[in-house]
Amino acid sequence: MTAAELLNKYIKFFEDRGHKRIAGAPLIPQNDPTTLFTSSGMQPLIPYLMGEIHPEGTRLVDAQNSFRAVDIEEIGDNRHTTFFRMLGNWSLGDYFKKEEIPWLYEFLTNQQSGLGIDPTKLHFTVFKGFEDIPQDNEAYQIWEEVLQKAGVENYKNRLHWYGVEKNWWSRAGTPDKMPAGEIGGPDTEVFYDFGDETVHKKSQWGKQPCHVNCDCGRYLEIANSVFMQYKKTADGKFEKLPKQNVDFGGGLERLLGAVEGQIDMFQTSLFKPTIDIIERQTDKDYQTYKSSFRIIADHLGASCLIIVNGIKPANKDQGYILRRLLRRAFDNFNLLGGKDILPVLETIVDQYAETDPIVKVQYEEIKNTILEEMQKYERTRHEATRFIEKKYQQPLHDGDTREISADDAFVLYTTHGLSPTQIKSLGYSFDNKIFAHKMEEHQKLSRSGAEKKFRGGLADHSEKTIMGHTATHLMHQALRDVLGNQVHQSGSNITSERIRFDFNFDRKLTEDEIKHVEEIVNGKITENLPVHFELIPTQEAYKMGAIGLFMETYSEKSKIYFIGDISKNYKDAYSIEFCGGPHVDFTGVLKSFKIIKQENLGANLKRLYAIVGK
Ligand code: SER
Repeated sequence: MTAAELLNKYIKFFEDRGHKRIAGAPLIPQNDPTTLFTSSGMQPLIPYLMGEIHPEGTRLVDAQNSFRAVDIEEIGDNRHTTFFRMLGNWSLGDYFKKEEIPWLYEFLTNQQSGLGIDPTKLHFTVFKGFEDIPQDNEAYQIWEEVLQKAGVENYKNRLHWYGVEKNWWSRAGTPDKMPAGEIGGPDTEVFYDFGDETVHKKSQWGKQPCHVNCDCGRYLEIANSVFMQYKKTADGKFEKLPKQNVDFGGGLERLLGAVEGQIDMFQTSLFKPTIDIIERQTDKDYQTYKSSFRIIADHLGASCLIIVNGIKPANKDQGYILRRLLRRAFDNFNLLGGKDILPVLETIVDQYAETDPIVKVQYEEIKNTILEEMQKYERTRHEATRFIEKKYQQPLHDGDTREISADDAFVLYTTHGLSPTQIKSLGYSFDNKIFAHKMEEHQKLSRSGAEKKFRGGLADHSEKTIMGHTATHLMHQALRDVLGNQVHQSGSNITSERIRFDFNFDRKLTEDEIKHVEEIVNGKITENLPVHFELIPTQEAYKMGAIGLFMETYSEKSKIYFIGDISKNYKDAYSIEFCGGPHVDFTGVLKSFKIIKQENLGANLKRLYAIVGK
């Protein structure tokens, strides 16, 4: 069974049970600055789990392309991938545990309608309760009935209780970590036992007893049905959601591992061709260099899927993650003495094309982006070496390791964007402790910068800064008028001196374009348009085409600023934007607007500086 066949089987299984298939959301969330990537099937469905009516009904099924940047450093073991497809079936206040559990069991074990997995390899876990939230006896009993009916011997040995650390699901983790307003619930999970005890002994948990939900890798979590039924309140309690929902998530790649009885996901039919071609391109053998092989296969695959979502390597946000993935893949490919990376890329694209044909259609784009980044990385490494050689005035010979100061290593990190491992791969060593200390200081600084950013991008609330804020909205819309609607803001910082505005765009603006933007904004200033906000249901605001950073992702209503007279029709507004404010009352107050500088922040990220009121 291929990954695509497995996916189709799952969709059909739930379609046959009254579910409507819905399209997965884009890998890069639209208008949601709270997260860089879609990281689970649940993320795009949150408004509906919270009670919004879904246009397709109350039983849905989908496959969601997901990416988890937090897992980048975990890649290298037998089961983590940054990019994965999450299969999901959803009950939005429709069916609940007594339907979900038997269906799940049938899908996993039935030879015809499902995957035909041997039940004696499976274990099931249930929530044992936490404070006021009761133990899930209902789910336990349903599992008992299902397993008994299926004739599974000693089925009680296959049922296990776990607490909030393991059998509670919310995006924020355990109940205590959930912010007010966040939703979550107990879950029941299914694990596949590969039966290889040596895995545990060899792992870092080897000295403790192995158990079903152990992280050693012997057991693989293949399915998770969340009974999404609680919302955290402002006083830290849990109230029932208006409807009881089911949120099932199962990783396609892991399910394939279970179907193939393959403990190493990178040896399943989905990854094996890629591993084989890396062996050929490096003349190294997978068994000896597993971790590097897995990093190359995972990171290049994830990069392809990110690139087809319009992201280019850059120094910020998604572009930065893409850059890290690619450079880490290159490092490992070079480490293995890899020759040509293109055959590897072609194989990966062929593997993913079955489920995501777009990777084939956009192969040229993927290839060019990756080759370009490879050259840029080479240049960066070269410049970094020159910087050090000049400073220390001695060329480094092959095989030498030179001790450089932690300060200089830090310059390579901040200005050349090289990670400590990458600096070491250039042949330099440095004091790790001092470097780590500098890194901590640096992170503290950027955190305080980020806090400022969350005050709506305003450094203060002076009259001049507020004027700059309104000018930003005008400029945002004017940029879209001149450059196209694909332009959107990715950050802003406004002081009483100047406006700084970041947005996605793939080239420098011409002088004419800059002039055109200025003219439009100045025109709107001359028209002296009214500026005001309204609280509007979030979904409606979307429909109106409101733009901007979407700060109140999960609230029902959002604050929307309109520039223009909308007494007859909201379409008369020049700008409609999600925003917390504050703004001036009339654009005439701004007097004039001028762009004073542009900067290139990355391949698809530009920055403009502008002034108002002169
Ligand atoms: N929300 C759960 C998860 O992401 C199940 O979909 O794992």
